[in-house]
Amino acid sequence: MFDLRAYLKAKQQRVNDALRRLWDNTEPHPTLLVQAMRYSLEAEGKRLRPILCIAASEAVGGSDTDVMPGACALEFIHTYSLIHDDLPALDDDDLRRGKPTCHKAFDEATAVLTGDALLTAAFEVLSAAGRHQGDDALKWLEVIYLIAKAAGHFGMIEGQMMDLASEGKRITLKELEAIHRLKTGALIEVSVRTGAMLGGGSHEQIDALAAYGRHIGLAFQVTDDILDIEGNIEDLGKSPGSDQVHQKATYPSLMGLDQSRAHARELIEKASEELRNFDTKAEPLIALSRYIIERKR
Ligand code: IPE
Ligand code: IPE
Ligand code: MG
Ligand code: MG
Ligand code: MG
Repeated sequence: MFDLRAYLKAKQQRVNDALRRLWDNTEPHPTLLVQAMRYSLEAEGKRLRPILCIAASEAVGGSDTDVMPGACALEFIHTYSLIHDDLPALDDDDLRRGKPTCHKAFDEATAVLTGDALLTAAFEVLSAAGRHQGDDALKWLEVIYLIAKAAGHFGMIEGQMMDLASEGKRITLKELEAIHRLKTGALIEVSVRTGAMLGGGSHEQIDALAAYGRHIGLAFQVTDDILDIEGNIEDLGKSPGSDQVHQKATYPSLMGLDQSRAHARELIEKASEELRNFDTKAEPLIALSRYIIERKR
């Protein structure tokens, strides 16, 4: 049987080593900015987006080294999004990844700029990977384009704007789904899609894996909403109850906990169906999809 726990541990290690190599290149006496970047990056995140990127590459016969700069860039973008999401002007949270949020450990201005620096660093890492690649440079250019689209005003940032605008309002399920697909789903989908591209997948494989990513991306945020109600602070490493304080539109607030859980399960089944033509190399992706709805953190 496939051992997801061992797989996650091994891949988290690979990603953490690669991330460390990127920030170890900086000064022996890091500036305050670099200290704050490391503080948020080194905290215990699940590394889910890089691992999905790697698993998608492996599913099409590629390796983790094929995608590692992309995987690190995705984690940079995700970490920056958390730093900004926690700011007083957004969700105003004090705990993240089991530690005080960046603006609490440093200050607000530093947290804003740390996020800016991580976002910029992501595109530095991506473009550096593509620079000396010959024919593969075009593939990296496409990856850069897709990640930029998913992270910006066609994706995550528009989703974050809509999330804030919906506070205290009654919105429809359709509107909520759109918010979740943008604020969280877009980066998860692009993690899987670019992993499949860089791993050398065919067009059919890339499309199937991107569809898988779309389903799990929504399921991930539905589960995050559920955990905000059911989770505990030790497991989550962040404070539950934040959504209610801000009167966020969430799946449980619109359809209740039971239906939200059922919906997340349906999405995971749909995701697995997309993998029907893959061989055992896609086992990690199947296990990851289940993990996404069964996790406690
Ligand atoms: C939290 O993401 C933010 C959302 C998009 C819901 P994760 O739950 O993946 O956070 P880390 O990376 O493990 O800290
Ligand atoms: C965050 O959604 C989505 C991002 C783009 C960071 P949430 O606001 O629900 O994430 P948490 O619950 O604070 O991790
Ligand atoms: Mg938020
Ligand atoms: Mg938040
Ligand atoms: Mg949340």
